[in-house]
Amino acid sequence: NNHLIEKPPEEHDALLATLPVQPSSTPYFGPMQPFILYKGAWMAKFIVRGALAMEQCFKSRPTDLFLVTFPKSGTTWLKALIFATLTRTSYPLDQHPLRTHNPHQCVPVLEREFATGRSQIIEAISSPRVLSSHIPYSFLPKTITDSDCRIVYVWRDPKDVLVSLWYFTVKVMGGADKIATFEQFYDSFCEGVIGFGSIWSHILGYWEESKSRPEKILFLRYENILQEPVKHAKQLAHFIGCPYSEAEESQGVVEQIVELCSFQKLKNLDVNKGGILFPMDDLNISHSYFFRKGEAGNWKDHLTHEMAERIDAITEEKFKESELQF
Ligand code: A3P
Repeated sequence: NNHLIEKPPEEHDALLATLPVQPSSTPYFGPMQPFILYKGAWMAKFIVRGALAMEQCFKSRPTDLFLVTFPKSGTTWLKALIFATLTRTSYPLDQHPLRTHNPHQCVPVLEREFATGRSQIIEAISSPRVLSSHIPYSFLPKTITDSDCRIVYVWRDPKDVLVSLWYFTVKVMGGADKIATFEQFYDSFCEGVIGFGSIWSHILGYWEESKSRPEKILFLRYENILQEPVKHAKQLAHFIGCPYSEAEESQGVVEQIVELCSFQKLKNLDVNKGGILFPMDDLNISHSYFFRKGEAGNWKDHLTHEMAERIDAITEEKFKESELQF
C-alpha cells in the first residue's frame, strides 16, 4: 500500500513558496497565519499541504460520503446527525458512541489527516466512510469530483458564522487580548481574508455544483435545519442511502436521532464539557469550544446595524447571479 502513503509534506514547499502571502502588517488572529492565496482562497499553509497531498494520494470509494462546510457553519451538528443516522442500527441509541465521543472524534477531517501525514487513518476506516472537509470545491481532488461520492454541504448566515468564528478564535487563542480587535476581524472577514475565505466563494462553489448535480451534492442551510430538524433528518437519511422505514418513523426513531444530536443534548454530555480534541496539536481545542449558543441570529448581540448591513450587502451582491436565495 505504499502508493497510499503520501510523500513528506515538504515536497510541496517549492510550490507553496511561489504563492502570494498575507503581508506582515495583516491583523493577527492565530497561528494558522500568514494565510497564502491558493486557487482564489486564503488558506493556512498546512491546509494547502493537506489538499496537495490529497490530490496526490487520496483514493475515494464510491460509497464515501463527505460533509463539507465553511468553519462554524454547523459542522459539529451535521457530523453528529450523519454519523447517528448511519449507525442507528449498530447500537442501542441509549448507548450510542456520540454519548461518549465528541462528533469530531467520530468523523475525521480529510485535509487535516493528510496535512499531518496520517492518511492511513482515513484508509483504515471501513466503508461506508464519512469524512469531513472545509476545503473549497475548486480544491477537491478529481477522485472526489469525478466519482459517485456524495457530498453534504451546509452553509449558514455569514453574520452568525463571523460571530461564531470570533468566539472560537478567542477561546483557542486564550483571550481576546492575544489577537487583533473584533473590528479588524470583521474587516478581514468581509474582505474574504480569512482561512478558507471568502465565505461567499466557498458557498457558491458548492452551490453551483449542487445545481448541476443535485443527486450528488445535498445543499443545506443551518437555519433551515434548526427550524425543521425532523424534516431535514429524513432528507439527510434518504440522501445518504439509509432512509427511515415506516416502522422507524412510527416508533419515533427520527425524533430520537434529532434529540440525540441536538445542541442542548450534546453540549451537556460530559465528553463535550472538556477534553482536548487534537492532543497532538499545540492549539488546545477543547471539545466544549464547539458548543456556544447553537442558534440563528446571535449576530444581533454583536454587530452594529451598519456592520450587519455591510455583510448583507456583500451576500446579496455575491449571490445575485447565482439564484441562491439569502
Ligand atoms: P455558535 O457559535 O453560533 O453557537 P462548527 O461545528 O462548524 O464549528 O460550528 C459551530 C457552531 O455550531 C457554533 O455556533 C455551535 O454552537 C453550533 N452548534 C454546535 N453543535 C450544534 C448542534 N447540535 N445544533 C445546533 N448548533 C450547534
